[in-house]
Amino acid sequence: MAALRAVAGVQVVAVADVDAGRARTFAAAHGVARVYPGADELLASGLDAVTICTPHGAHEDGVLAAARHRTHVLCEKPVALTVAQARRMTAATAAAGVRFGVLFQRRFWPAALGVRRAIDDGRLGTPICGGVLARFNRDAEYYAEPWRGRLDTEGGGVLMTQAIHHVDLLQWFMGPARRVTGRCATLVHGGLIEVEDTAAAVVEFASGAIATIQAGTTFRPGLGAQVWVSDARGRTASVMEFPEGVGFTDISTVPGDEVSQTGRVRAGSPDLPLARIHEHLVPYHARQVEDFVDAVRHDREPAVTGHDAVRSLEIVEAVYRSSRTGAAVDLTGG
Ligand SMILES: NC(=O)c1ccc[n+]([C@@H]2O[C@H](COP(=O)([O-])OP(=O)(O)OC[C@H]3O[C@@H](n4cnc5c(N)ncnc54)[C@H](O)[C@@H]3O)[C@@H](O)[C@H]2O)c1
Repeated sequence: MAALRAVAGVQVVAVADVDAGRARTFAAAHGVARVYPGADELLASGLDAVTICTPHGAHEDGVLAAARHRTHVLCEKPVALTVAQARRMTAATAAAGVRFGVLFQRRFWPAALGVRRAIDDGRLGTPICGGVLARFNRDAEYYAEPWRGRLDTEGGGVLMTQAIHHVDLLQWFMGPARRVTGRCATLVHGGLIEVEDTAAAVVEFASGAIATIQAGTTFRPGLGAQVWVSDARGRTASVMEFPEGVGFTDISTVPGDEVSQTGRVRAGSPDLPLARIHEHLVPYHARQVEDFVDAVRHDREPAVTGHDAVRSLEIVEAVYRSSRTGAAVDLTGG
């Protein structure tokens, strides 16, 4: 809500939740006048745009409802539980002629924009290698929310819900992925969840580049995340997230760049509560909402489209399939 309200001209006029009590409490807390039991009722009330913040498994229904009501839609990550669902969502919104954005607000960190800009202006060549290292801390309280940790409602664990942000950055920097080999396991939270808490993968890109992904929710304390890329001349740029929610440049040997900040992870470093993590992310969430609103107003594509969001989900889904079969998975690149 803070991110929506931070954007000039945005008025939050109505909310919907299948849990009527939650919807009423939320609306009262934030001064929203109208409350509806579901997406269809909400959308029938006439809105310029809607944001879908339901659990992953309900994203498709919300986005398809927005398409039916010809309403621009900004959906939370991951775009969907499966690539097939995500493709139905991009097709329906395209056919309805509405804008479809997906929230990956870490792309708006100055450190992340800096890497993308360095690649765009040639100071950093096409990456030949890179990686994601995502080491988070999630506990029983987090998994107590009934939809979390279940394959049918969350679709996956650390890759699907946390590291997809970093997989998104990796493929934004490196270009389309073409082959994925991976392994997932539930090594610590097995009594709590059926999705993975540990994952490792090798991703080959259409450019020929190779990257690794290592991700887990088993770290005490959490150690944040790093996304790095390096070009054929050895020039390297890295975005560090620590504490969770706060992103900065930790390594850059790109001409013209200066390392803006350094972080140090110490034994006993406190993990921030989720509310603080989200608080740090709000300004960038707001930047993406601002971009989305501008896209609607000026009839252009938003910075991160539904189509863009399919790419990280394709990589995550391929890691799951490779882990099940033991074989590499070729991507269509579509
Ligand atoms: N971009 C980010 O950094 C970020 C951060 C947190 C959460 N998220 C995403 O936001 C989504 C929600 O996560 P959360 O932690 O807020 O979940 P949550 O469980 O706290 O809240 C989800 C709400 O949706 C309601 N709901 C469930 N099904 C519904 C339906 N079909 N129609 C209407 N309402 C429905 C629930 O009653 C609940 O109030 C997830 O997809 C998550 O990945 C993104």
